[in-house]
Amino acid sequence: MYNSKITGLGMYVPDNVVTNEDLSKIMDTSDEWITERTGVKERRHIKKGDGNSTVTMGVKAAKIAIERANIDKNDIDLILFATLSPDYYFPGSGVLVQEHLEIPTCPAMDIRNQCSGFIYAISTADQYIKTGMYKNILVIGSENHSGGLDFSTRGRGVTVIFGDGAGAAIISRNEDSSNGILSSHLHSEGKFAEELSLIGPSTNRWVPEIIEANDPNDISYYPYMNGQLVFKNAVVRFSEVIMEGLIHNKLKPSDINMLIPHQANLRISQFIQDEFGLSDDQVFNNIQKYGNTTAASIPIALTEAWENNKIKSGDIIVLAAFGSGFTWGSTIIRW
Ligand code: ACO
Repeated sequence: MYNSKITGLGMYVPDNVVTNEDLSKIMDTSDEWITERTGVKERRHIKKGDGNSTVTMGVKAAKIAIERANIDKNDIDLILFATLSPDYYFPGSGVLVQEHLEIPTCPAMDIRNQCSGFIYAISTADQYIKTGMYKNILVIGSENHSGGLDFSTRGRGVTVIFGDGAGAAIISRNEDSSNGILSSHLHSEGKFAEELSLIGPSTNRWVPEIIEANDPNDISYYPYMNGQLVFKNAVVRFSEVIMEGLIHNKLKPSDINMLIPHQANLRISQFIQDEFGLSDDQVFNNIQKYGNTTAASIPIALTEAWENNKIKSGDIIVLAAFGSGFTWGSTIIRW
């Protein structure tokens, strides 16, 4: 059986910086409230007309990852695209990436697992490589949240947390068995599906009904989050799934060189850090600059950690996510 490893990383965020002060001018909130509850100081938002979308940001991140992996785009055997904010209801975003990259044809698959999307996508890539079916897989996580948030005070509990951006990784067949992706561990619990969800554009109400209702107060078109329930489940599931990965690989928390948690909320990351007795050097956070970018948050954080030389050859890297579904997962890597 083959082994896989990450051979290239890239990220892209829009230039437009939106600070907590900026938000407090358009809704009843404050820098103090947002910083204390979430850790977010600023986030990036697409500006109308700047050419950015979930797909085009993903393509920008992908081009950097492809170059760093030192492969030709035509060597990509499969595109996996994780997002909750696709450009189109259908087709999926992966096929649009294939077209933007001008790859004549290749398989492309979308992963709909929200905050856990990148972990699910890495795990899928790893399996295709382990079986020998593919050699190079492009994995993208990208989100355009700002286009679909409620910027009135009504939406403040959700809107202040989220930002736009994209991250990408090339996962390749690894000839060196001493490093690479060790394992991934995935879970879901659909009984909480509606506790963090966007129900509005659904097949329960087809287009003629939506057009007829034309209701500007229909908040089902905005994301809903039961924040406290999400928080309570997140801290438990993050801990469980990190431990599951460590035990599976006969590792201890002290073996972790770098934990890269999904950037959901700084308080969640700090809780996990304390739970595992990790130092500040063993956990990477950048939610302060980008907010929660859902499927993009892990690849953006992983790229920044790598660019800042915080990851060395041989390190044990733990990726972990929890989010809507609920879904959660971890990936353990020896770099
Ligand atoms: N600015 C000012 N006040 C606000 C804001 C805001 N942006 N949002 C909510 N409030 C108010 C509420 O209206 C409420 O006022 P009230 O007491 O007068 O009714 C008060 O602040 C407290 O609201 P809560 O929702 O109870 O605040 P809480 O302490 O739970 O913090 C938060 C909310 C930050 C969402 C928290 O529940 C949380 O971190 N949840 C975890 C969810 C999470 O991290 N989600 C990330 C996305 S999902 C994922 O990736 C896992």
